[in-house]
Amino acid sequence: MEAPSGSEPDLRRTDFSSLQRIIERESGIFVTQPSLLVQRLTRRLRDLELDSFSDYARRVEADADERVTMLEQVCTHETRFFREPQQFQFLEQVLCDSWTQQVNSGTRARRLRIWSAGCATGEEPFSLAMSLRSRLPSWQLEIIATDISRTALARCSSATWPIARANDIPERHLRRFMLQGTGTLAGNMRAADELRHHVRTSCVNLAAPPYGVGTPFDAIFCRNVLIYFRDELRTRVIERIVECLAPNGYLFLGHAEGLGSHAHQVRAVGPIVYQKQCASSR
Ligand SMILES: C[S@@+](CC[C@H](N)C(=O)[O-])C[C@H]1O[C@@H](n2cnc3c(N)ncnc32)[C@H](O)[C@@H]1O
Repeated sequence: MEAPSGSEPDLRRTDFSSLQRIIERESGIFVTQPSLLVQRLTRRLRDLELDSFSDYARRVEADADERVTMLEQVCTHETRFFREPQQFQFLEQVLCDSWTQQVNSGTRARRLRIWSAGCATGEEPFSLAMSLRSRLPSWQLEIIATDISRTALARCSSATWPIARANDIPERHLRRFMLQGTGTLAGNMRAADELRHHVRTSCVNLAAPPYGVGTPFDAIFCRNVLIYFRDELRTRVIERIVECLAPNGYLFLGHAEGLGSHAHQVRAVGPIVYQKQCASSR
């Protein structure tokens, strides 16, 4: 039976289970609330002129492109510049000092590779670029920004955001690194080329290694991504990510993602910041 126009189609338990299974298989994201799928997919059903979630589940199973489109709707891209400011303070103060000392003692080159894994629309990798360009201006800096969502990555590559997002950027960084949009970009701001040169985007599904991002990294930010995964996958992804760190490299997680059983691989050194333990330092 067709849903009256304007009302939401019903999501039956079996259709929810099918979609839940496909979403987890494709992305690792474990959806627990049927209402989330109703909220985010109803419009897509209408665009495809489908009357029911059963029809949609069949379509998704048969059509790889539709699975990609579905994930774009289901993923949460919420982010902010300098989210969890105490982690950026730790980076700018403690880690930059430590890396500088290593350069002074001849044990490291003036070079950093950082991975923002699950970077959404780019606020996180560009915050990293601002922090590190300010503190270590003459260093070679490579920031790899990855996400499963190509739409989010396109926003990241454009390095353009609504001007309201500037509220989260410290004044000194804002003045130095962001340009106010004019003409078709009015109401937006854009990162200066000086920053854009350091950020490279790539589509990477954390649930489907190998990641193809090259290793090793001096630090990896993987924040507010793994909360959507179930424990077993979360554990496997963390193990993979830690393998991508340089010896003594740093892993930054989101606030709800503190580590439990990984204590043997890493040790806590800052606000949800962990350092990779090398065989010699355990
Ligand atoms: C809530 S945002 C977090 C953004 C940023 N890291 C932060 O903390 O502000 C989560 C991002 O993870 C991405 N994501 C979800 N599942 C993923 C997967 N399997 N592989 C890579 N990225 C994924 C989503 O597309 C989304 O952009």
